[in-house]
Amino acid sequence: MTLVDGFGRSFHYLRLSVEDACNFRCAYCLPNGYKKTEADAPLSTAEIGRLVKGFAGLGFWKVRLTGGEPTVRRDIVEIAAATAATPGIRKVALSTNGWNLASLAPALKSAGVSAVNVSIDSLDRSRFAGLTGSDSLDNVMAGVERSLELGFETKVNAVLMKGLNDTEFGDFVGLTKTRPLSVRFIELMPAADNADFFAERHLKAEALITWLQENGWRERARKEGDGPARNFMKDGHKGSVGVIAPYAKDFCSSCNRLRVTSRGKLRLCLFSEKDHSLRDLLQEDSQLGAMQDKVKDLLGLKEVSHYLPEGKIGNTKHFAMMGG
Ligand code: 5AD
Ligand code: SF4
Repeated sequence: MTLVDGFGRSFHYLRLSVEDACNFRCAYCLPNGYKKTEADAPLSTAEIGRLVKGFAGLGFWKVRLTGGEPTVRRDIVEIAAATAATPGIRKVALSTNGWNLASLAPALKSAGVSAVNVSIDSLDRSRFAGLTGSDSLDNVMAGVERSLELGFETKVNAVLMKGLNDTEFGDFVGLTKTRPLSVRFIELMPAADNADFFAERHLKAEALITWLQENGWRERARKEGDGPARNFMKDGHKGSVGVIAPYAKDFCSSCNRLRVTSRGKLRLCLFSEKDHSLRDLLQEDSQLGAMQDKVKDLLGLKEVSHYLPEGKIGNTKHFAMMGG
């Protein structure tokens, strides 16, 4: 079974936010810190179990656990283990700000997680503290090294911002020299809460692609199942560099993912105007088929692309709501 939409795109990748809270205050996301906005609690482990089982039955084989910060949940390892043990799920990844990754990594590995994405916007300790509100670069980097030692597929996600950290581009690329990790530059994206920040700090990703091409980086051919990142390799570098450029033409044609928020709402696109609750269909095992039917129906509403260039950013206040 594969879910295919009206534009010929197949979906096998679920990005599941398990927690909207976060202990960091990233400049573009939660500059004033997390504030509870939802009346209900995040999905329980039982609800998450049913959700993952339902999606697996629809042909989804990859799940990313994300947030907010997923590891502020005390039961994150249990959630990861249940997800990895679901028949049909072949890959479980985790996105984290890395604050406790060094200590958590072994348990995540045993639980069956095989890939981690760590968000790092500066490799300079005091700048990192300024950008995130947390003086924890050393812990985060220890988490990255631990993940590599344990054999996780490891990615470092950096958002380059004009006048804040754009001069660190070369330092980030340098991480790939001796480490088999992928550094991915994510273009700053607009959300309702960061309009002024976005206007001041947005940098187009195209310039990075030109720089990579002019400096001996070769683009890897797209593989089936690849998402929208463009990936580059260079001789003498153990790792690779990726660029995620949501404004690029064709960005949406390779879309292979659906998102579910920490309260169990299906988001058809990062920049959707509206979410669709699945939660009432996650209460009993017997509702599995009804939940799957609802997802299939809702997929019919998925649009061919986002409308960012037209200035339509959707209803997202900040990405902690559903993990980017
Ligand atoms: N633009 C780009 N990336 C963002 N993230 C959060 N908010 C934004 C935004 N407005 C990123 C984080 C992290 C990932 C989960 O989403 O830096 O890498
Ligand atoms: Fe937290 Fe991620 Fe938002 Fe930073 S970007 S505040 S780490 S949810």
